[in-house]
Formats: sequence, C-alpha cells, structure tokens
Amino acid sequence: MTVLVAGATGTVGREVVRRLAALGADVRAGGRDPQRAAEDLPAGVPAVRLDLEDATSWPAALDGVGALFLLRPPDVARVERLQPFLDAVVAAGVRRIVLLSVQAAGRNPLLPHRALEKRVEATGLAWTHLRPANFHQNLLTVHREEIRDRSRISVPAGNGRTAHIDVRDLAEVAAAALTGSGHERCAYELTGREAPTFAEIAATLSAVLGRPVVYPRPGVVAFVREQVAAGTPPGLVLVMTLLFTTTRLGLAARTTGELERLLGREPTSLLRFVEDHADAWR
Ligand SMILES: NC(=O)c1ccc[n+]([C@@H]2O[C@H](COP(=O)([O-])OP(=O)(O)OC[C@H]3O[C@@H](n4cnc5c(N)ncnc54)[C@H](OP(=O)(O)O)[C@@H]3O)[C@@H](O)[C@H]2O)c1
Repeated sequence: MTVLVAGATGTVGREVVRRLAALGADVRAGGRDPQRAAEDLPAGVPAVRLDLEDATSWPAALDGVGALFLLRPPDVARVERLQPFLDAVVAAGVRRIVLLSVQAAGRNPLLPHRALEKRVEATGLAWTHLRPANFHQNLLTVHREEIRDRSRISVPAGNGRTAHIDVRDLAEVAAAALTGSGHERCAYELTGREAPTFAEIAATLSAVLGRPVVYPRPGVVAFVREQVAAGTPPGLVLVMTLLFTTTRLGLAARTTGELERLLGREPTSLLRFVEDHADAWR
C-alpha cells in the first residue's frame, strides 16, 4: 500500500516520511515543489508534486495511494478551500486519512483544524486525528535565530505552562496510524509528560549550551511593538499574540498520557530534545 505524505517539506511531514521509510513502507513525499521536497529525502523515497489547491497535481500524486497523511497548511484558514482535494482523495480510492490537527481542536470548535477534522470525517474514509501540543521543534524554527544570536526567547507567555511534544514522537504515532490497525475513528491528544514555562525552557537551554539564555517575559504591548519594528507581518503578530496569551492564561498546559500509551515508552523530554539539537543554537 502506498502512503502519500502531504507537506513532506514541513517540520512534521519530513519526519513522517523518515519514519515510514525506516519502517520499510512504500512512501511517496508530496510537496508543491517536488525538487525541493526531493532534497532531503531518505534514499529510495520518490517525491511528487502535490499542491492541495491545484487539481492538476492530484492525479499523479494520488495514483495507487491507500493512505494519506494530511495537514492544514499554516496559511489556509478557510479549510473549505481543501474540500475539492478531499473529494479527489475519495474518488482516487484512498482508504485512510491521518490528519495533523492541533491539541485544542477537541475543545475549540472555532479552530480551522476542527473544521478540517469534520470534513475528513465526512469523507466516509477511515480517519485518525492527531492533536499534538506545541512542538519542541519550534525552538529550531520560530525561536532558533533569537536563541542562537541573542541568547533569549522573548514571547508574551508570562509564567504560563505549555504542553509540548517532540515531532519525532508525533511522527512515530503518525506512521503507526498510517500503516497499522486499531486507529480508525480515533482522535489522539498528544503531549509529552512536561508542560514547562518559558523560563524553564530558557533554563534548560542555558544548562545544555553552557551560556545564559534569558526569558525577558515581555508584556503584550512590548512584544507587539518589537515584532512590528522587526517587520513581522501584522497577521502573524496577531496569531502569535493570541497563541501566547492562551499560554499566559494557562490554557495550553494540559498534558495527557496518550502519547506515552501509543509509543509504549516515555516521550522525548525537553532536556533530551535540547541535548540532541544543541549545535543548532551554537
Ligand atoms: N508548531 C506547532 O507547535 C504546532 C502544534 C500543533 C499543531 N500544529 C499544526 O501543524 C501544521 C503545520 O505543520 P508543520 O509545522 O509540519 O508545517 P510547516 O513546517 O510550516 O510546513 C508547512 C508544509 O505545508 C506545505 N504546504 C503549504 N501549502 C500547501 C499547499 N497548498 N499544498 C500542499 N502543501 C502545502 C509546505 O510545503 P511547501 O514545500 O510546498 O511550501 C510545507 O511542507 C499546522 O496546521 C499547525 O497548526 C503546529
């Protein structure tokens, strides 16, 4: 059975491809630019052009596919734009969809992720929703330069705690759901054991890197001012502010034992993650 991974150039998709390849699955990596997608693939994994909003890319990408790893691309807020693709998935004979959603989707029906979950359920195919917490890997993407060049993480999260997950653990669950049985019609709320504050994250980075990394704890106004001055697009500033306000209010702190149960082992800790990637911030 061929497994098609959408967003294979992204943080999660890339890791899902790696995991499936390591399991010996027949995996196909989908990206809007297949050449870019092909740059970082395990040996023998083919890349295919897949744009969830461009129907000309779908026939070749979906040909012979039995299971699909799907995500809501970060800039697609109106998920009805993805309905034509879902219709094509059904028509192509795909039998299973594993959807990358978000932890809060089970509680907040206004999130686009929940809207996409409902559309996936309505396809009638076997579905699994992965609802992960904040990624440890954000420290390698969103916060990387600030940590490396300025030895700080400046977000308006106060003393709020945030549940986290290592994307490598998330990909392990995704690969199991794509290739194994028993995950149909399941929505998994996936978190590691810890929900650190940003002060604790900065302390962990300091300890591993051997230099102080600070968390200045800016208020919302100072954060917005700084982001605008740095040229961050206003829409992104708004999203980040809302996200970190949720954290500040303690709404992102919930941890579950679901990831541990599915992995059959302890999830990757923040310390282990930082140790594994220390060179990225040096
Ligand atoms: N960051 C977190 O802490 C966190 C936590 C929970 C859930 N999430 C959710 O995870 C999702 C993002 O996953 P990620 O971090 O792996 O993404 P990412 O690293 O931002 O990469 C986005 C991926 O989507 C692809 N993409 C964008 N538009 C596309 C389109 N029209 N058709 C096909 N592919 C398209 C991109 O491919 P190209 O190479 O073509 O650009 C890229 O591979 C979001 O829904 C987010 O809400 C994130």
